[in-house]
Amino acid sequence: MKPLLPLRSLIAIALSCGFSVAPIRGGSAVAVEDPAQQSLHELKDQFRRPAHVPFPKANPPTPAKVALGKALFFDPRLSRSESISCATCHNPSLGWSDGLPRAVGFGMVSLPRRTPSIRNLAWGAAFQWDGRADSLEAQARMPIAAPDEMNMPMDAVVERLKGVPGYAALFREAFGDDEPITARNVTAALATFQRTLVSGEAPFDRWISGEESAIEPDAKRGFAVFTGKAGCAACHSGWRFTDDSFHDIGLKAGEDLGRGKFAPPGVIAMQNAFKTPSLRDLQIRGPYMHDGQIDSLDAVLDHYAKGGEKRPSLSFEMKSFELSERERRDLVAFLRTLQAEPVSVTLPQLP
Ligand code: HEC
Ligand code: HEC
Repeated sequence: MKPLLPLRSLIAIALSCGFSVAPIRGGSAVAVEDPAQQSLHELKDQFRRPAHVPFPKANPPTPAKVALGKALFFDPRLSRSESISCATCHNPSLGWSDGLPRAVGFGMVSLPRRTPSIRNLAWGAAFQWDGRADSLEAQARMPIAAPDEMNMPMDAVVERLKGVPGYAALFREAFGDDEPITARNVTAALATFQRTLVSGEAPFDRWISGEESAIEPDAKRGFAVFTGKAGCAACHSGWRFTDDSFHDIGLKAGEDLGRGKFAPPGVIAMQNAFKTPSLRDLQIRGPYMHDGQIDSLDAVLDHYAKGGEKRPSLSFEMKSFELSERERRDLVAFLRTLQAEPVSVTLPQLP
């Protein structure tokens, strides 16, 4: 973890007094004299959105590949029952999730984990709540083949898609091969489509890029609480508000050990550890956490204020703290500035 705040308290003071920060023009920073403003400026810089979406060299994007990936993402024929698509659980009108505490899969089976949103994953390093997939390409096979999700072996998917008139042309356009409908190309197209799902610009982003009036003073104070006293930015760092790492935050533990399942014996810190979720476009009403165990934002804040259950695996970044009523409201006001205007998604025409 990078130390974030050499001058936490100064920043908090600067923010609560409503000092403005020198705007950035043409990419170069305006010199700022006041040390508190200087460090606020540096802090804000850590939350600046990148200008471009990264794609891996091995799977470069083309419009044809994105269009194919989108069709596959919305196509229920990728599931055995022909009734579950990726979008059944990752529904664009529910923030690319499903609004449920835990996902419901094949045969209406309730799964142990909550469906995460899938925005901003082009920048991700490890996928699933426990990080067991190291790329979006590798991840895409998992829900298709899982018996309690889409329940379709990849070979069966390929056979079925070969039987759908229209897919051959789409795959050829995207991949150009003679035998383009392969498991590898299915997952490559799905991964490419998902990399294009990026959160829209939120009021917070406009503030970061210098528009002082983009967010209210309460949200600016909330940012100071978030990065200061409450210590949230220790894990929810960077413009995606995640360090892409795994932590035990001391929630009610069940059978699911999270990252702990993959840790060598003796590595205590990974027991009960799950991937830090992004806080962009956070659902206003829960459910929250990997298993939907917390249902309101107030209860999330209570959990952090208490510091979580003390156990050997608890992250050392989890420290209890007290928030005044105002600080609590400010923190929530700040989190709301991470919400972008909803983008309308046109459903693809399936072949
Ligand atoms: C039955 C509901 C369901 C279906 C169908 C489904 N998912 Fe998911 N998705 C989930 C759940 C639950 C998780 C978390 C799984 C875990 O951590 O073990 C998840 C995790 C993911 C992640 C990882 C996100 C992250 O932040 O690490 C990606 C990417 C993803 N799904 C993409 C897909 C794609 C692509 C499809 C279709 C091929 C799909 N999902 C189908 C429920 C579903
Ligand atoms: C030690 C690292 C760490 C710190 C500090 C931390 N978080 Fe988290 N946060 C996580 C992890 C990891 C999860 C997912 C835990 C799980 O599901 O088991 C999470 C989950 C959340 C969620 C639920 C998001 C969702 O989609 O379910 C919210 C909201 C949240 N954190 C807000 C905060 C706030 C506000 C603070 C500061 C008061 C904070 N976090 C401090 C690591 C941290």
